[in-house]
Amino acid sequence: MRLDKFLSETGTASRSESKKAARSGGVTVNGMVVRDLSVHIDPEKDKVAYMGSVILYQKYIYIMMNKPDGVISSTDDGSGKTVLDLLPEKYGKMEIFPCGRLDKNTLGLLILTNNGALAHRLLSPKCHVEKTYRFECERPLREKDVELLCKGVDIGEKSSTQPAKVHLTSDRSGEISVTEGKFHQIKRMFQAVCNKITYLERIRFADIPLDETLARGEWRELTEKEKEILENH
Ligand code: URA
Repeated sequence: MRLDKFLSETGTASRSESKKAARSGGVTVNGMVVRDLSVHIDPEKDKVAYMGSVILYQKYIYIMMNKPDGVISSTDDGSGKTVLDLLPEKYGKMEIFPCGRLDKNTLGLLILTNNGALAHRLLSPKCHVEKTYRFECERPLREKDVELLCKGVDIGEKSSTQPAKVHLTSDRSGEISVTEGKFHQIKRMFQAVCNKITYLERIRFADIPLDETLARGEWRELTEKEKEILENH
């Protein structure tokens, strides 16, 4: 990778800042001053320092966000604010994208990464990643409805939904866990039992709980343990 690309992609400095720093001898590779930023380096092996500080290279970034209401989770929308707009600029160059989507009015846990292979695997129906949502619905859920949601309902796809788990906290609220991620999955499941979701928040993804210390719209990088959970899935 070119050294100037490395410096900008790691969020160390803009191209013009790095140029200036290199000219003044502020950029070193393995302890040697480098003034020509077009040189190629191996980010995994070479030790690059910028103005005396060694730059830690992370190939893959994993972020947990507490998605707020009214923000879309796709990466490009001409009109609305996206979850990527909530991240600092340095992540803009790292080609980060959400690992699965939440509706504009769904809140809670969203994982963002630039590890395409891992995201693809986690989103594959074969992987059966469990996702848990806190919900509220318009009408009381009857025992029969809960049984149907757990067993599988017809949401207009080729086959019924996979078995789900439901835990009620009142007759109109609770938690539901599913292993699929079809478009509007939970809302359509509730429609199938003649009800309507009025509140939806994802609180767990693949054994990783939403960090409740994150306010809506806040984010942090995943811990080593959380990354391991994802990688071992
Ligand atoms: N199910 C939905 O209906 N919406 C979401 O955002 C996530 C799951």
